[in-house]
Amino acid sequence: MDYQGPFQEEGCTLTSFALEKNKKTKGTGEMSQLLTSLCTAVKVISYAVRKAGIVQFYGIADPTNVTDEQVKKLDVFSNEVIINMLRSSFATCVLVSEENVHAIIIEPEKRGKHVVCFDPLDGASNVDCLGSIGSIFGIYRRMSAGEPSQDDALQPGRNMVASGYALYGSATVMVIAMDCGVNCFMLDPDIGEFILVRKDIQIRKRGNIYSINEGYTRNFEPAVLEYLQEKKFPQDNTAPYIARYVGSMVADVHRTLVYGGIFLYPANEMSPQGKLRLLYECNPLAFIIERAGGLATTGKEPVLDIVPTEIHQKVPLILGSPEDVKEFLKIYKKHAEK
Ligand code: F6P
Repeated sequence: MDYQGPFQEEGCTLTSFALEKNKKTKGTGEMSQLLTSLCTAVKVISYAVRKAGIVQFYGIADPTNVTDEQVKKLDVFSNEVIINMLRSSFATCVLVSEENVHAIIIEPEKRGKHVVCFDPLDGASNVDCLGSIGSIFGIYRRMSAGEPSQDDALQPGRNMVASGYALYGSATVMVIAMDCGVNCFMLDPDIGEFILVRKDIQIRKRGNIYSINEGYTRNFEPAVLEYLQEKKFPQDNTAPYIARYVGSMVADVHRTLVYGGIFLYPANEMSPQGKLRLLYECNPLAFIIERAGGLATTGKEPVLDIVPTEIHQKVPLILGSPEDVKEFLKIYKKHAEK
């Protein structure tokens, strides 16, 4: 076969990429083990997502999760898969999941030095209608000595050593950000490998898409209303922005990374901290966007600078192309000074 593709390059699968990074940074191999385990978990979840309709795996599981949202069967399954794979990676000591009220402390004989915060299946409201959904993770090194505890996860996002997401869309991809940049791997379902398809992704300086749930317009702050008005009726007579909103954060942020533009889940009168969770939704995606040259803010401060006080805390989130976010911040600041 005359195969023209990434296999003619080194480091072209996620596993070989992780091994290469480990060699270059003279690491212990723990990060490679961790990423390989996450990669296996994502393959299992991707398979379950694609089969769910056939094996009647849609619908709601019994309990209500900590966020009081309905927990889908696929949420519960994905959570168990990720926890089991991380536990058996021998690379982690503390896990924080959207689905667990408390952090999970790994048993001593399986411990490694990493703390992982994750949302096993984000955008679950899109599951039953076949919308895109995803898994999100942020990886830290443990900072304290002694017995690991939940507090080890209360680190600012800037401390992350890696973060990423899996998007179960028309294809399954994993986007991973590390110091070396942001890279995208696509699952080839025929051989079961994640293949490097986009290297060192850089977000556009400015896009032409805004992404926000406009159903909440009545409760938005005046700064958000003014920003949206400016996008629809630009004062300089440039073309108005296009609106796109999937309602699944991974899908909305992935589009923002690829096409540019701005994604907003701001505070509103009904929920002054917004809806999105700092540790396993906002921070990992903010880390990716910043590494790709974009910005991520609450309006008041960069998301990655926040020192968390509790593991399920929420923060407002505005992220995307640097010029778009700066324009939002200018309007936000003007209103704050009033
Ligand atoms: O936090 C879960 C989530 O589904 C995100 O993936 C998404 O961005 C958001 O909620 C959508 O919330 P809403 O339905 O309020 O727009």
